[in-house]
Amino acid sequence: MIIAIDGTSASGKSSIAKALGARLGFAVVGTGSIYRAITLKLLNLNIKANEDERIQQIINTTHIEVDSINGATIINVDDIEQKKAELNSREVSNFSPLIAMKPYIREFVRKIQRSQAEIHENIIVEGRDIGSVVFPNADLKFFIDADITTRAQRRQSEYLEKGKNYSLDAIVKELSLRDQEDREREISPLVMTSDSIIFDTSRLSIEECVDQIVNIINDRKLQNA
Ligand code: C5P
Repeated sequence: MIIAIDGTSASGKSSIAKALGARLGFAVVGTGSIYRAITLKLLNLNIKANEDERIQQIINTTHIEVDSINGATIINVDDIEQKKAELNSREVSNFSPLIAMKPYIREFVRKIQRSQAEIHENIIVEGRDIGSVVFPNADLKFFIDADITTRAQRRQSEYLEKGKNYSLDAIVKELSLRDQEDREREISPLVMTSDSIIFDTSRLSIEECVDQIVNIINDRKLQNA
């Protein structure tokens, strides 16, 4: 079974995917981590977003492995496990849409994503274009959203837990820009497919969403039994 979870930045989709994976015993692939890992490598090499030739050369020699352990997505780049704190930094968050909008990057990541569904019989894949492009035939598709203030507050708390204090206003602006870049790019934009089931986490807690999604999945399993 393939479950696609798409949605806006900081909507809670990663937490939902992780909790669902743990509850159902499904593998979980948070595809944002793959884009983030590529972005981090480019940032560390001081590469600018417009240096396509160099980026392509680097991608051609980059080896990425994905693993799912207890609902967490582990990313190894060139045999080195990537640290969550580095992948989720503000710099990587803000630079990643500029890298993720490149067709050759998306093709590279799409192959990794699809190979995961060949490895795992039951998988939850979370991202922006999973139900629309990567797995259009997914068994179930969910779209997670929340209002911008809720999302910014959530992101601000995550940063505070790591000792970083950023203003709510700045985070609102960054999230809005990131959503806009993800929604307006030419290929694989963030879209809600017509067959997606929508959850708004400004009205429901993550736990309530997970409970409802588990019920929907169990109903679907019974229908298919
Ligand atoms: O989900 P997350 O915030 O970790 O994703 C980081 C960035 O990676 C997004 O802002 C988006 O630009 C890109 N992304 C994407 N397609 C996906 C997952 C993430 O373009 N399926």
